[in-house]
Amino acid sequence: MISPSSSLPSVPPQEAAAIEWERKPKTIDANLKDYDAAYREFNWKTVEREFDWSRTGKVNIVHEAIDRHAAGARRDKVALHYTDYAGRDERYTFQDLKVQTSRCASVLQRAGVKKGDRVGTFLPRTPELYIAILGINRIGAIPVPLFEAFMEQAVEDRLGDSEAVVCVTSPALKSRIPLAKLPALKTLILVGASGARAANEISYEQAMAEAPNWVEPEWLTVDDGLIIHYTSGSTGKSKGALHRQYAMVGHYQTSKWALDLRDDEIYWCTADPGWVTGTSYGIYGPWTLGITSVVIGGRFDPDRWFQTIEKYKVTMWYSAPTAYRMLMSAGEAIPKKYNLSSLRHICSVGEPLNPEALKWVKRITGLAPHETWWMTETGMQLICNYRSKDFPIGCTGKPFPGTYATVVDEQGKEVPPHVLGNLVVKPGWPSMMKEIWNNPAKYQEYFRISGWYVSGDTAYKDEHGYIWYQGRADDVIKTAGERVGPFEVESALVAHPAVAEAGVIGKPDEVRGQIIKAFVALRKGFQPSEPLKKEIADFVKTTLAAHAAPREIAFVDKVPKTRSGKIMRRVLRAWDQGLPVGDISTMEE
Ligand code: WT7
Repeated sequence: MISPSSSLPSVPPQEAAAIEWERKPKTIDANLKDYDAAYREFNWKTVEREFDWSRTGKVNIVHEAIDRHAAGARRDKVALHYTDYAGRDERYTFQDLKVQTSRCASVLQRAGVKKGDRVGTFLPRTPELYIAILGINRIGAIPVPLFEAFMEQAVEDRLGDSEAVVCVTSPALKSRIPLAKLPALKTLILVGASGARAANEISYEQAMAEAPNWVEPEWLTVDDGLIIHYTSGSTGKSKGALHRQYAMVGHYQTSKWALDLRDDEIYWCTADPGWVTGTSYGIYGPWTLGITSVVIGGRFDPDRWFQTIEKYKVTMWYSAPTAYRMLMSAGEAIPKKYNLSSLRHICSVGEPLNPEALKWVKRITGLAPHETWWMTETGMQLICNYRSKDFPIGCTGKPFPGTYATVVDEQGKEVPPHVLGNLVVKPGWPSMMKEIWNNPAKYQEYFRISGWYVSGDTAYKDEHGYIWYQGRADDVIKTAGERVGPFEVESALVAHPAVAEAGVIGKPDEVRGQIIKAFVALRKGFQPSEPLKKEIADFVKTTLAAHAAPREIAFVDKVPKTRSGKIMRRVLRAWDQGLPVGDISTMEE
């Protein structure tokens, strides 16, 4: 949290003088031609008219994303290109997805799923994952996508809190679902199962083969649930951000104006649907626009990534700074092997894109990635750079038309240019989360500064109104673009028999933005050693998730805490950087 405005730090304007600009040609055939005019005039009501529900009153995302295309000129257009470079190479038209998501809907109905029920998906990035999410939506149930790298504790937290009744998963992943601790979870639908199954297990393939080709969508209102994405805060376990059907209005328009998607697009969003980018912009945005999407399975591999652009002639690429930096560190020889000339627009999300990475991508593709800032909770992009608008390299961008994002002090007053403050948004944009599942108090915390949604990020505005992200105001960690809560990692650490106390921070890292560093105090009888560090890190990997495991562990005698028992991560960060610890008058002892 930021101190009162009298002592707010400011960012020296002379730094601004050194800024380079990404200049755009006077005429560019972007969907959004004149940002400033749109910002003055745009009204969300005009977007509602793009959806059939504005005339029929019958709402369901699957109708707008799939069925209406399958009933019209896009019937045989490819909606999804998929390859895993390991034997699967498939394409699905909008008509195919209409059939597949209908069958999946029927399978779910037969498993007893009803409107409003939560259904987990716990699958690798495969067509079945996309079909399952939309199959769940088709019957008005609420998908809870789990990232495939989650281990038992992470799975239990999310399926437990959401009280999911069914989970669509695979034989390989199901061992991480602790059924005994999940009383609401009645049935597992297993993709790729062979042989004997337990009484509560359904074979996806068998059930799909027996299911009908058409299931009418459950008709909803714009206020009904669309999806729950779990995400991390600085305190407590992960929390479920519930989005409404109305969010599609935001997904649609930002996909049109920020991603600049057009009808002939070959669009590649590299995010997994386990995270919000993989659904808002991997499913709902592009498919409500009727766009062709590319999805690849398997692990990150620089060669395959560039090969994918060449293979599918990708025209629009939406990825993340850590990915760009990992491609950069793999060397320029790799992109040189492939024809990348199909690309016409690139965007970035998840963490700040440093100018060096931006320039590298521009060197190899001819295109600068455009920032999009948003959060799991915001559901849609809110601060962006636009294909038709000049921007200073390194800035986060300007508020999307129809939204208002700015920088305020603790009282909610906007601060002058170059003064650091809280990055906030005026509530009421279309994709704003509806609630934090089961936790109204957590929801209220986002509105602690009256009149604003408080992002938890710090930023400043420059004299041209561009917003510059500066960091988090809280202890949330962003590692390789993934959001990790220190409390979750600390809880996993103290479950190890050698660990008495643990404090966790994000440590700056050139490639990953931050890495997770743990300060660990051992129980009596345990000696610090390198093998013990590895054992502890592996323990977190196998209980929580690989991306949530500390890459660095330091043994300490005691973890610094306040007298009320709160871990002083500020002190840990100072220790890590070898800096003075500042005011420690609230520390215990
Ligand atoms: C946090 C939200 C929603 C997409 C994936 C991330 C950071 C996000 C940017 C950006 C600098 C960014 C912020 C934000 N962040 N985009 N363009 N520049 N930082 O969603 O996991 O909910 O994380 O990611 O710190 O608060 P998320």
